[in-house]
Amino acid sequence: MKKSCGCKSKFNAVFMKNLEWYLHHVYGNYKRSLFSKLGKNVLEIGAGTGTNLPYYREGTQLTVVEPSRDMLNYFLEKAKDHPLRIYVREGYAEELPFEDNSFDSVVSTLVLCSVHSPVKALKEIKRVLKPGGTFVFIEHVKAPDFTLTAKVQDLVQAGWKWLFEGCDVKRDTGKLIKSFFPDAKYRMVKFNSPFIPVNYHIIGYGTKQPD
Ligand SMILES: C[S@@+](CC[C@H](N)C(=O)[O-])C[C@H]1O[C@@H](n2cnc3c(N)ncnc32)[C@H](O)[C@@H]1O
Repeated sequence: MKKSCGCKSKFNAVFMKNLEWYLHHVYGNYKRSLFSKLGKNVLEIGAGTGTNLPYYREGTQLTVVEPSRDMLNYFLEKAKDHPLRIYVREGYAEELPFEDNSFDSVVSTLVLCSVHSPVKALKEIKRVLKPGGTFVFIEHVKAPDFTLTAKVQDLVQAGWKWLFEGCDVKRDTGKLIKSFFPDAKYRMVKFNSPFIPVNYHIIGYGTKQPD
């Protein structure tokens, strides 16, 4: 898979690191509630700088897959302070290097907007989940038609994608998740943040049904 230039990768890692306080402020309560659904053996895709680390239960066995070395440097530094068993793999959600049915739960926060192929990533997430396992997600999504945010998304989509390494503000991620996890339960939440193009989010979880 194609990597972006080093300076953009560094910029995005520094950007996310400096945004952590804000991410805790906006998503903290949602994460505390959602992460209570996680099993013991968890995979997090696109773990970034490690913003989610404080929300995992003590004793969790956490595996992370993240393509950016710059993000991982911050992640590894932060991981030292958390009482979790952590395994880190540099890689992509579209090609998870794990056996079928390996994890109790998979976590994705603000990642499915950026993966090259959300369809491949979701297929992989489902493959590595154990039957009955839980997929937990918080993702920003395409705004409803005819809203101000939808207009702003039209205007900024291309530039945003370029600057934030493939992040697509108009992805209909809820529909995609439903196609892999038909029982997925989520709600659409609109934040009134200064980041207008990413104000609409889906927050929820789905279960891998046994075959
Ligand atoms: C906006 S950041 C979110 C980081 C973290 N999940 C959070 O909530 O703070 C998006 C993350 O997805 C990662 N990413 C991008 N493409 C990916 C892919 N194909 N597979 C896995 N992670 C990917 C990026 O490197 C980055 O760390």
